[in-house]
Amino acid sequence: MIESDQLIETPPTIEWVDGSVHILDQTELPHSQVVLKCTDVASVVAAIERLSVRGAPAIGVAGAYGVALAAVLYPPSSSRVEFDAAVHNLRSARPTAVNLALMVDRVAALAGEAPAAMLAEANRIRDEELAASVAMGINGADLVAELCGDRPVRAMTICNTGGLAAVERGTALSVIQTLHERDKLVEAIPLETRPLLQGGRLTTWELSNMGAPHRLIVDSAAASVLARGGADVVMVGADRVAANGDTANKIGTFSLSLAANYAQVPFVVVAPETTVDESTPTGDHIEIEDRGDAEVCGFGQTRFSPQGTSTMNPAFDVTPVDLITALVTDCRVVNYRIGETLNSTPFRNDNDQARLGPDHQGESN
Ligand code: MRU
Repeated sequence: MIESDQLIETPPTIEWVDGSVHILDQTELPHSQVVLKCTDVASVVAAIERLSVRGAPAIGVAGAYGVALAAVLYPPSSSRVEFDAAVHNLRSARPTAVNLALMVDRVAALAGEAPAAMLAEANRIRDEELAASVAMGINGADLVAELCGDRPVRAMTICNTGGLAAVERGTALSVIQTLHERDKLVEAIPLETRPLLQGGRLTTWELSNMGAPHRLIVDSAAASVLARGGADVVMVGADRVAANGDTANKIGTFSLSLAANYAQVPFVVVAPETTVDESTPTGDHIEIEDRGDAEVCGFGQTRFSPQGTSTMNPAFDVTPVDLITALVTDCRVVNYRIGETLNSTPFRNDNDQARLGPDHQGESN
């Protein structure tokens, strides 16, 4: 793997360049823009594991390009063993976000075809994520106008759900960007998001880049800001939405939903339809990634806990559907508060059903 620094323009989150996968290293943001040039699959796996690329849709795209890279390195004429091991390692690099396994499987299903066909599928996955981000922004901003009245709002959010997490624009942050473009955003209120500070480092950077007003808060300030009427809506992303609507997202999301419900502020989940996993019946069945002690005991090179401190470091939590006002996807809005469910809410567009396959839960109009 080769690294480059001192870039003038912000490079894409993930890009296929001349037979390699280029990943903008999010662990270095916002201070340096370093591109990891992954020429082998192990480097892509390592980048996903260490969160150089992160966010459910973005790791799905990275996984897809990882399989395309494996197809180039281990073409159909060579042994399947190395290709299969590469697919396995990509698929299991992070367990909670369903998008990773889904997109790895989608490209790997073409094994045996020419590497160019697998690269074309990875490009298609990236393009679908871009289109989904735009659609979620529109659907979400329309819903916010319905829930809050057609007026500028203060929108609280957690973690990073922007273009860095989904290739471009993002999920919840795409809605915030759309509100800003419509002059309907008073301010965004990102939570810093301990332990890795995706909110403090990445969301603030993306909000600054889009010129959107914002004030960063520490995670523990969220409940009191909400209870004192400091936000009109809370919008979060998702790593996996179970069939009943229970939603896994960054650790802290469940607490935020409790605070939003206490303050009677709408709590909206924004995710592409590909994050809905109908094979997972409820949130109890979602595997929660546990990460190491170092992230809790310090940050970067700084360690603040005594040597030997034991930790619990779940990277995600599950918000039960009854604490969620609505789910916004690229294909539909499911308003749980008026009794809608994933099963009963049709897609707005027939083409979406065809694209997502007959097994997907939404029914066409
Ligand atoms: O651990 P991360 O940074 O990958 O967690 C990301 C999140 O929890 C996001 O909210 C989620 O992936 C949805 S983002 C578009």
